[in-house]
This record gives sequence, C-alpha cells and structure tokens, in this order.
Amino acid sequence: MAEQLAWWQKTIAYEAYPKSFQDTKGAGTGTIAGITSRLDHLASLGVGALWLTPMYKSPQKDNGYDVQDYYQIDPSYGTMGDFDELLAQADARGIKIVMDLVFNHTSDENPWFVESSSSRDNAKADWYVWADPKPDGSVPTNWRSCFGGSAWEWCEARQQYYLHTFGTYQPDLNWECPEVRQAIYDVANWWVAKGVGGFRIDAITFIKKPAVFADAEPDAGDGMVDVRSVTGNVPGILDFLHEFKRQVRDGHDIFTVGEANMVAAEELPQWVGRDGVFDMVFGFEHTKVPLGGTEVWYHKVDWKKSTLVRELVKTEDAVAGLGWCPVFFENHDQPRSVDHFLPEAVPAGRTDDAAKALGMLLLTMRGTPFIYQGEELGVCNLHLPSIDLYNDPQSKSTYAEALAAGLSEQEALEAVWGYSRDNARTPMHWDDTANAGFTTGTPWLAVNEQYKTHNVAAESADPDSVLAWYRRLVALRGELPVLVDGDFTELVPGDEQVFGYARKDAETEALVFVNLSPEPATYDTALVAGAELAASSQGADAQPGALRPYEAVVYRR
Ligand code: NOJ
Repeated sequence: MAEQLAWWQKTIAYEAYPKSFQDTKGAGTGTIAGITSRLDHLASLGVGALWLTPMYKSPQKDNGYDVQDYYQIDPSYGTMGDFDELLAQADARGIKIVMDLVFNHTSDENPWFVESSSSRDNAKADWYVWADPKPDGSVPTNWRSCFGGSAWEWCEARQQYYLHTFGTYQPDLNWECPEVRQAIYDVANWWVAKGVGGFRIDAITFIKKPAVFADAEPDAGDGMVDVRSVTGNVPGILDFLHEFKRQVRDGHDIFTVGEANMVAAEELPQWVGRDGVFDMVFGFEHTKVPLGGTEVWYHKVDWKKSTLVRELVKTEDAVAGLGWCPVFFENHDQPRSVDHFLPEAVPAGRTDDAAKALGMLLLTMRGTPFIYQGEELGVCNLHLPSIDLYNDPQSKSTYAEALAAGLSEQEALEAVWGYSRDNARTPMHWDDTANAGFTTGTPWLAVNEQYKTHNVAAESADPDSVLAWYRRLVALRGELPVLVDGDFTELVPGDEQVFGYARKDAETEALVFVNLSPEPATYDTALVAGAELAASSQGADAQPGALRPYEAVVYRR
C-alpha cells in the first residue's frame, strides 16, 4: 500500500549535473542559483528528490569528484548562501536535495592528503592507502586505474606509492583508519543537519582494499588488471557500511543510495532494505549488457533485448519483499539511453518513440525512478569530430587505450561517440536560443545540436513530445497508485521484442507492454482480457495484443 512506503519510494528522483544545468553568471558553467531558477521544471515532473553531483570546493579535474573541502561550496557554483536558498526554494516545492558523498577518495589538494603525503609520521600518515615499491623500485602491484595507467602514484616525500582507483589526483582514503571513518561521518552529518534529504554515495563498493596487495592476472595486453576487479566488494566492506548506517542514516528522515558496482543480484539483501546497508543501490548489470557485460567501450558485441530485460527483472526479483532499487537508464557516467539500449532507433529516425518506450519502463517498473537531465526530452548522444573536444578524462584515456589495442583513430572516436561520459554532460536544453538557454557565455562543453528541436520550451508546447509523455506518465502514477506500490511480475519472459509486466496490489492491476524493437510486435491478447487502455505512447488507437515499433502501453484492470 502506498501509504506504507517511505517518501523517497513514493516520489520521483531527478539527477542534475550542476556544471551543465543552468548558468546565471555568463561564465559558461552552471550555478546553484541556476538550479534554483529551474526548480519549476522539476516540479512539473513530480520530482521530490533532486540528486546533485558534487558541488564541494574542488580543483574540478573530475568535475567535483575530486573534493578539496567537503564543507565548502566551490566558488564556480556560488556560495553556501546560494545553497541555503536552493534548499529553501526546493523545500517550498516539496523537493529534497540529495547530496553526492565522495568518500572512496579525495582530491590530492585536500588538506588531509597534503598532510598525509608530507611524511610517514604525521598525524594523518595513515589516512590514505600507502605502499612501498617492489624491491626493484617499481609499482607495488599491476593494478590499472579506471582512468588509465597504473593505479599507483609515487610520492617523493614519503618514498612510497599511493593508491588511486580513479585519476592520479584522486588518492583513495584508508577506511581501515578509524579517524578517517569518523571524519567521513562528521561530513555526512553536517550536511544532514543542514537539511538535505539524502545521499548518493559514490564508488562505495571500492572502499575496502584487500589485506595483501599483490599482482593479479592481467586482463589486457598491458600486463595490468582493472583495479576494481581487485578492490571491488571485498569481504569485510559491509562492516564499514553498517557503521556508516548507524552513524549517518539511522534516526534521520533521509535516504541513502549507494553506487554499487560489482554487487551481484544475490547479494542485494545485504545491501538494500531493512537489513541492508543502504536504502537503495544503483546496480550496473543492465548498463553493461550492450558491452557484453564489460565496461570496455570499444567492445563490439551482438546482444539481445531479452538479455537487457533479464538483468532488469533479476534486480526486481532480488529486492521484492526487501525494499527496492532505483530504476534508471541514464546518469552522468552513461551514454544517452536511446543510443545505449535502443540503438536501431537512431538511424531509423525513431528516437522520440524509443525515448518514450524507455520512459514507460523508467516510470512504471518497481522502484524509485531516477530521471537524468535531458532524458525527459529524448536527448541523444553527440558526435564531436575530435577527441580534443571532449572534456571527460575517461574518454581521453579510453581513446588512447583503443588506439593501443589496434583500433584506428576513427574506430577509437566511434567508441567515444558511443560511450563517452560527455554524451550526458552537455548543457541542458531549455529553449532554442543560443546555447540552448544554458549560458550567455561560452559553454564549458559543446551544446548538443539537438537542442534546436528538443528543449523544454518547445516540448512543453508539443503534446506529442517526449516531455509531454513523461508528464503524462507522472500523472498516471497518481491516477494508478499500483504503478508505485504494486508487486512486479514479468509477463512474457524470453520475448526478443516485448517487455511485459504486471504491477498488482489488492485492488488493481496495471499491465505494461513495451515494444523494444523497430518492428511491429504482438503479445497474447488474453493477458489484457477485461482490461482497459490507460495510456499508449503512440495514441489512443492502440490495439490489444499488438504493438507498433517502440510502442509502450499500459492497461488497467
Ligand atoms: C563515479 C562517478 O559517478 C564518476 O563520475 C566519477 O568519475 C567516479 N565515481 C570517481 O569519483
């Protein structure tokens, strides 16, 4: 029953990438005041929780995921006063602000690291992950960082290496050190006291390192292995996270959602729900399907829609009865969802239909929907003509890796077109004026040309737009609460075209069918016997048992 759900289960969450949301200073980068000025757009989508990627003081080498000071707002975004105003204005619209906690690592310019790296015997000497060189002076292990190259960086003052899962400028914190953990909880509680409604917790599955640092079997021709395969979800991690829950989550009306790479569906009971360490976790198995289960952007694989559906259903089933996970197809690290999951729609010019199909899943599967900025407009990937025009460090390192693996420059660029994190990070499209209404200055990252037709102003005026469909689906969640609180049962398992499922509570059933293919599709009409059409993404003349390409329908019974 809806009333038994927590507020964060009944609402819709939205992720904004502050650097690209709305500039108010003409500097070409977004500001907090810009976010405040656009809250009405979020309210029109029924958003009750707004996740903002990090806005703390930072050298911005990874756009804020390199935190210099957890207690200050980066001046490029404005002031703490601006943040307080955002909290108040959001609160007036029933929207809670969700902060991003980056606790696997800090910036190398964080005073904690500056002190830790200054000698082997300072007060914070153990705050980061330090290791001696091998006897021959080389790096302690063959682990490769996520952004390319060794995961170890040399520190002259200590004559030791430090570990960095991500960039060299993002040294990993040592969670084994009790003072580090206390410092982290203090940060989180400081933001709770400020009135935030929850936390998205970054890279949290990598915080526990193995007891012994040793070379692992190489996974590529460079003789190295992805550090995450060694440090991901290491036994003992849950002890840290239970402590985090006790210290930060318990006793507060907030929610936590962990970024949980490498947590298998079978393990979810330990990660989410009453006995889990977080309220929800973002899992990534479905996002890896188009890459054959890997995260290597230049892997070209044939994959099946049924595999994608299987991963989505696996998560639904694993958390049934426990709680639930977010439903999401995009975020600031992922490509645009149409290109990612329904790529045939792009050359066919059916991207809006495809975006509406995914929108149906996003807003009617069981879980808290997380809309990523621009997803509600049907924005697609962008294809910049040169790697030099990309900002994302991972795009640059992957491009170099692809070349080293023998791909041509064009092939390496195509991999970046497909998977660059910048696909999602381009400025938000507000209207069809210069720079999509994002800035009066020079935008920090190229604006996607699609803004001319796909923007909030134009789509608000068009009843057939992707945005209008999102608003219809949001309204439908109000009209048919079973879409929020009902059980989830898959209806046509193994179908290569149709994803069908029922949401059911004591009184009502909602039956959802989505054609994930560019061809017409069918399903058994008996499944909708006695039911009435509640909505179709392609018009009220939808026929029971038949779906047009990318059509998404919901029936009620
Ligand atoms: C995951 C974040 O979502 C990503 O943007 C960032 O680069 C890494 N963690 C490192 O913090």
